[in-house]
Amino acid sequence: MMVCEYKPGLEGIPAAQSSISYVDGQKGILEYRGIRIEELAAKSTFIETAYLLIWGELPTKEELAAFEEEVRLHRRIKYRIRDMMKCFPESGHPMDALQASAAALGLFYSLRDLHNPAYIRDSVVRLIATIPTMVAAFQLMRKGNDPVKPRDDLDYSANFLYMLNEKEPDALAAKIFDICLILHVEHTMNASTFSARVTASTLTDPYAVVASAVGTLGGPLHGGANEEVIQMLEEIGSVENVRPYVEERLQNKQKLMGFGHRVYKVKDPRAIILQDLAEQLFDKFGGDKYYDIAQEMERVVEEKLGHKGIYPNVDFYSGLVYRKMGIPTDLFTPIFAIARVAGWLAHWKEQLAENRIFRPTQVYNGKHEAPYIPLEQR
Ligand code: ACO
Repeated sequence: MMVCEYKPGLEGIPAAQSSISYVDGQKGILEYRGIRIEELAAKSTFIETAYLLIWGELPTKEELAAFEEEVRLHRRIKYRIRDMMKCFPESGHPMDALQASAAALGLFYSLRDLHNPAYIRDSVVRLIATIPTMVAAFQLMRKGNDPVKPRDDLDYSANFLYMLNEKEPDALAAKIFDICLILHVEHTMNASTFSARVTASTLTDPYAVVASAVGTLGGPLHGGANEEVIQMLEEIGSVENVRPYVEERLQNKQKLMGFGHRVYKVKDPRAIILQDLAEQLFDKFGGDKYYDIAQEMERVVEEKLGHKGIYPNVDFYSGLVYRKMGIPTDLFTPIFAIARVAGWLAHWKEQLAENRIFRPTQVYNGKHEAPYIPLEQR
């Protein structure tokens, strides 16, 4: 057997062949099925982009209308799922609630028919349609309120914001939210996608695939960083405090949340678009003092860490956009999951098309022939 060098974090080791998305971390390029994200953000919708990623091509008018309609008709969740969610503790993190709810969906759709295209389509539709409903339902129920039913006359993003806030959203806010979902939907072999593919490779059901990926996305080194960015900006509190804060953290060898990326060595192209979206919101609804702190932070971090290729990542400005929309901080990562579910499902489908179970190796560095010491002698 070929012996490979051990790479912590599997850095640089290909885990799959994939035609879903492409990143050039030096040039700051991200493409979905070959199309630059700047173009999709300007011209597409989240549902169309999800279709593109999962089925490989942009849909025709008829295909798009059919997919939109299927997703629209599957937004409701079963009352048993709602009742189960009502029993979750209000203090629990919404990502944990989402992981449990996504896994529970699998209990209701336990037939596993992975070779049947209709089963694949139904699962894709159900997951994309119900994940936002589950996120919004938990948000209302943890405040002691009944969840709001989805509204069929609203598009995907407007409906989510409606279910969350119990009122129809502003049109610009809904459009910007939809673009945020496009920017978060897919990003090559990141930790949660790897987790999804490993789970998929065992030929389990797609609900288990999504639940395992949600669990992985929640960590602070991955999707959870967007929450910590806001906490960090709150802690800094003023533009004058930025430099001392950054210097102290670097001195203590602590990470600055929302900066750095395994692949990008320039500013994340998604952060550039998100910053512009944040500015559009501030123009319409008034500024945010945390934006001034964030901009100063970007300047100071570039000065200190730019030589290491450390720049803002996708999580740095997304929180400011969601904050301006009045979304609570601990929903930022579940919103990331609402988007990323389509990317995970594209990888699920691709994995199934040429599956081999993941079974890597390890470099054993433990003992051999160790004696068993009787309990009384230990
Ligand atoms: N702040 C300060 N220094 C950093 C940061 C940061 N955010 N990120 C990397 N560095 C430094 C490290 O200290 C290290 O320096 P050294 O070589 O002098 O020891 C060097 O850059 C390489 O860092 P690693 O942690 O080895 O890089 P890795 O590729 O393993 O990690 C990661 C990437 C996890 C994103 C990292 O940059 C990080 O922890 N960032 C903060 C958390 C964050 O924002 N995560 C969201 C990422 S985007 C996403 O998942 C959606």
